[in-house]
Amino acid sequence: MNRILLFSLCCLFFFSCKETKKEKETVKGLITENAMVVSAREEVSKIGNLILQQGGNAFDAMAAMEMALAVAYPYAGSLGGGGFMVYRLENGDIGSLDFREKAPLAASKNMYLDSITDKVIPNKSTLGAMAVGIPGNIAGIYASHGKYGKLPMDKILAPVIALAKKGVIVTEKQQLRLEKYRESFFKVNDSTMLFAKDWKTKDTIKRLQLAKTLERIQKNGRDEFYKGETAQKLVDFMQKSGGIMTMEDLAKYEAKWRTPITFTYDDLRVISMSPPSSGGICLAEIMKAIEPYDLAEFGHNTTKSIQLITEAERRAYADRNYFLGDPDFVTIPSETLVSDKYIKERMSSFSFEKATPSSEVAHGNIEIVESDETTHYSIVDQFGNAVSVTTTINGAYGSKLYCEELGFFLNNEMDDFSAKPGVPNMFGLIGAKANSIAPEKRMLSSMTPTIVEKDGKLYMVVGTPGGSTIITSVLQTILNVHEYDMGMQEAVNQPRFHHQWLPDTVKMEPKGFSDELKAELTKLGYTIDATNSPVIGKVEGILILSNGKLEGGADPRGDDKAVGF
Ligand code: GLY
Repeated sequence: MNRILLFSLCCLFFFSCKETKKEKETVKGLITENAMVVSAREEVSKIGNLILQQGGNAFDAMAAMEMALAVAYPYAGSLGGGGFMVYRLENGDIGSLDFREKAPLAASKNMYLDSITDKVIPNKSTLGAMAVGIPGNIAGIYASHGKYGKLPMDKILAPVIALAKKGVIVTEKQQLRLEKYRESFFKVNDSTMLFAKDWKTKDTIKRLQLAKTLERIQKNGRDEFYKGETAQKLVDFMQKSGGIMTMEDLAKYEAKWRTPITFTYDDLRVISMSPPSSGGICLAEIMKAIEPYDLAEFGHNTTKSIQLITEAERRAYADRNYFLGDPDFVTIPSETLVSDKYIKERMSSFSFEKATPSSEVAHGNIEIVESDETTHYSIVDQFGNAVSVTTTINGAYGSKLYCEELGFFLNNEMDDFSAKPGVPNMFGLIGAKANSIAPEKRMLSSMTPTIVEKDGKLYMVVGTPGGSTIITSVLQTILNVHEYDMGMQEAVNQPRFHHQWLPDTVKMEPKGFSDELKAELTKLGYTIDATNSPVIGKVEGILILSNGKLEGGADPRGDDKAVGF
C-alpha cells in the first residue's frame, strides 16, 4: 500500500516538475477570455476588435478587417484583389466563400503568348493592366455580411474610413518593402503616384482617395463597386492603362459559396478551402499520408519527420499541378485524391532509407514558384463563431498598377493561371490544362484558410500568406500544436521547411535547422536550400485552450498582431 502511495507521489512530483518546466519554456501569445482577431497589422486587428466590442460578430469583423487591410497593408490588401473565407458558426455549421478574381470576358488561352514565337511575353501577366483579374473583395465582404452579419455596413466601414483619413504609420518592414518595389511602381504609374514617394519609417501615409471610394461604397453598397460610379472610374482607368476590363466584367462578378474540404486527422476534423484553391485538397492529401506514422515519436523537425512530411508534400504537389483548377470549368477528382486507397498507393514508394526523386513521382520536369505576397486574418468572436480569411492581390502590391483616383492597387492574379499549360512561364508558374486561361474562369490558388475542430468543438483557426508554401506552413502549424503539444504562438514561431515536388528541393528557413540535420538529409538524397527563403509563411492563428480561453499566434516574421478581449 505504502509503496503504491510512494510511487503515486513520485509520479505526481515528476509530472508537476515537467509541467512547470514546460510552462517556463513555452512562449505564450496573447490570451483572452472571449474574442480574438489576428492579422498582418496592429491597426487592422484593432479595428476588427472594435467591431466585435461594438456587438458585431466575426463576419462583421471580417468586412472591417478586409477593408482595413486595404488601408494599412497595401502590400497585399486592396479593394482590387480577391480571397477565400472558411467559417464555422457557434452551432457547428461550416461553409466557405470564394471571392477569388476571375479572368475578364476578353481573356483567352494564349493571351500571354507571343503570336510568332509562341513564348510567354515577359511581364505581361505580372505587371500592369493586362495582369489584372476581376476583383472579388467587395463582393466577398458583402456576400458574407449579407448572410451572417449583424451590424449595419456603414457602422462597420466607419472606423476604416477614419483610419484612411488619419493615415497609417510606416513601419521599418514597410519602408523596406516600398524601397524594394519603387522602381517597378514607376514602370506602370505616373511618378507622382502616392507610394512612389520616398516614404520613411514613422511617416504617416494618408489614404484620402481610398477614403472617398469607401464612403461611396458605404453610401451605395456593393453595386457601387460593380455597377456604379466607382465601377465606371475603374473601367476607364483600366482601359486607359491598356487593360481589357469592362463594365460587363464587373457587373457579372459574383462571390460563390462553396462546400469546404473536410477530413479527419487523428481526433481532429480539419475544415479548409476547396477549389479553385488547391489548399484544402493538398492539405488533406499530405495529412492523410502522414497520419499512419507516429510523428510525435519522430520528434519536431527531426530527420525522420522532415523526410515523411517532404515525401507527402512531393506527391501532393505533383497532383496539385496536374489535376486542379476552377471547378466550374474542369472536373476535379477530389474524392479520389484524398481517399485512403489512393494515398496509400502514392506513399507505397516512400522509404526512410532514401529520398524519392521527384522525377519518379510524376512525369514532366516543371517547376512551381508562386509569389508570397498574400495575407491572412483569423477571427473568433464572443459568440463562438470562427472566420478564417486569406486574401491577396498576388504579387507584392499586385500588378503595381495603382488607381490614384480610387486609391488602391490592382491585382496581378492572372499570373496564377498557367499561361502556357504544361510549360513553366518565365517566373516558373506552371499548371496543366486544368488551370489554363478562359473567360470568367478563376485561377488556381494555394490559399488555405483553415479551421480545426477537436472532439466536435472549435480548436484552431489558422492561415498564412506564402504562395505555394501556404499549404505547408498551415500544415506545420497544425502539427506543431497537435503532435508536439505547442501553444499557438510557439507553433507559429517555429522554423519552417517546404517541398513542392519541383524543384526537387527542401526549402528551409535559414535559422532553426542544424548543420548536422541538413547533412543527414543530404546524405539520404535530399537537396537542401536554406538560403533563398528568409521567411516561409506569416501565420495568423488562434487556439482554443482547454480552459476555453483563446491564445493568439501572430507571426513575428511580420508586423502582425493579435488583439482581443
Ligand atoms: N496568389 C497566390 C495564391 O492565390 O495562392
